Amino acid sequence: MNYAEIQSRKGLYGWAPKLPYVLGMECYGEIVAIGSKCTNRKIGENVVIGTQFGTYAEYIVVDEIQALPAIKDFSSEQNAAFAVNYMTAWVSLVNIARIKSSDSVLIQVAAGGVGTAAVQIAKAYGCRVFGTTSCDKKIKLLEKLNVDVPINYKKTDFTEIVRSDRDGGGIDIILEVVGGDVFKKSINLLNPFGRIVVAGFASLDLNKWNPISWIKTYKSIPRASVSKLGESSTGLMATHLGYLINKPKLMTKLWLDLTDFVKKHNIKPIVGHTFHFNEIKMAHELMESRNSKGKIVIKVND
Ligand SMILES: NC(=O)c1ccc[n+]([C@@H]2O[C@H](COP(=O)([O-])OP(=O)(O)OC[C@H]3O[C@@H](n4cnc5c(N)ncnc54)[C@H](OP(=O)(O)O)[C@@H]3O)[C@@H](O)[C@H]2O)c1
Repeated sequence: MNYAEIQSRKGLYGWAPKLPYVLGMECYGEIVAIGSKCTNRKIGENVVIGTQFGTYAEYIVVDEIQALPAIKDFSSEQNAAFAVNYMTAWVSLVNIARIKSSDSVLIQVAAGGVGTAAVQIAKAYGCRVFGTTSCDKKIKLLEKLNVDVPINYKKTDFTEIVRSDRDGGGIDIILEVVGGDVFKKSINLLNPFGRIVVAGFASLDLNKWNPISWIKTYKSIPRASVSKLGESSTGLMATHLGYLINKPKLMTKLWLDLTDFVKKHNIKPIVGHTFHFNEIKMAHELMESRNSKGKIVIKVND
């Protein structure tokens, strides 16, 4: 399950087809049939799928480029939890922010699906990692993942914690997925040559019948003035995995780089919760409640 599916269900997700459609942007499973022009995949193969919609179902038809070979060392749940979160974290930190071991890295929403993936990748690079979350239960998970500075951003001002940190208190790379005040405060923490990568807006709460919420949403969308970026020699960048799906060569390269990296560093996806297919409502409620940890996986079949 992905947070985008919550937004999609509410009609707030830009990269979604017209209603009605079946939700679900990724899954793990077995190929049961192939088209006559399919050359790279075969029946019986276990694959992970990345797609725009349709994985809350027993069967899905996708283009062969969207069916990536499953990772042998992972369980079914770990394979289901891997593609979107780790590709997003990888593209943000490695391809866009060009992470290196000397970077200090701030991961917003560090205990979630994308967040835990980003923490694992940044730690494997040897970076000093700051991670935020909204509750103490999730702080424990951050400690387990060796986050250097876990921060409950509901209890304390994360900017103060960063500013008072031992290395002078600036950040080289920020992965930001909340928007609003969290983005505004984050961007001011960047060191010269620092990069903030926006990969989501979890706080977006647009109600199309309420004009006040339009203004609030407009104000919450991350933006920065080029002259301000120039004054601080910093960069604002963004990514959306969905728009990369139709670039097969690039996707294949990213997938190979990422899977090599996770194998080398023995990284395993954090599956926090597993639900049965007929409990999808509960799974959505859990994610919206902000109480989920790591990835939520839904099992279509036992
Ligand atoms: N760009 C891409 O291609 C891409 C791909 C995948 C995901 N994303 C984005 O990455 C973010 C995380 O996605 P995910 O699937 O891994 O979800 P997740 O982090 O597992 O779950 C959502 C978490 O967001 C945090 N959050 C912050 N403000 C929130 C709010 N106002 N309402 C609800 N939750 C809020 C909560 O954690 P705390 O309470 O600990 O803050 C919550 O547990 C989302 O913004 C998503 O859209 C982007």
